[in-house]
Amino acid sequence: MKKEINVLDYASEIMNAVNRGVLLTAAADGKANTMSISWGSLGIEWNRVLFTTFVRLSRYTFEFLEKNGEFTISIPREGSPKKLIADCGSNSGRDMDKAKVFGFSYVAGETVNVPAVKEYPLVLECKVVYKQLQDEKAIAPDDLEKFYPKDESGKRDIHMAYTAEITKAYILE
Ligand SMILES: Cc1cc2nc3c(=O)[nH]c(=O)nc-3n(C[C@H](O)[C@H](O)[C@H](O)COP(=O)(O)O)c2cc1C
Repeated sequence: MKKEINVLDYASEIMNAVNRGVLLTAAADGKANTMSISWGSLGIEWNRVLFTTFVRLSRYTFEFLEKNGEFTISIPREGSPKKLIADCGSNSGRDMDKAKVFGFSYVAGETVNVPAVKEYPLVLECKVVYKQLQDEKAIAPDDLEKFYPKDESGKRDIHMAYTAEITKAYILE
């Protein structure tokens, strides 16, 4: 069963969870992939409640988001298995089916063609309405060097910011 919620009533719980790590799932071509995120924000723009996530271009999940601009955010609550954050945040879906390897399951989304992680019951369904590659020239120099060091080829692994309308929010019960 799903209990629909008003996101703003849960803003504090959601943002405290983001700070510790939550799961982002994206899907395309009949396949889903889940990664951990801890950079994100809730906001309001264009009279909509929005969630912005920041995904580095090197992530396998980035490829899914570029194909299908929809995602779900799955947030742990009391009793949720904590280790999925480390599992999904230190392994790539390029090398494995994370749901199989780490033993979690998916439930279908209602307003998006992307599932959510059943074990993390607070779910935000999100549709991208705006995206922007972070402009490295506009990042404070100290942060640029700290968070985006150049690789051997001189490139920096910048984040794509995806701002999405939260089209449905609920708790799986
Ligand atoms: C707690 C935690 C938070 C993370 N937050 C982010 C994030 O906000 N953005 C990002 O691009 N990667 C973040 N990562 C790293 C990705 O989750 C990690 O690189 C993952 O293996 C990518 O999976 P994929 O290649 O299947 O997309 C985080 C990792 C952890 C453990």
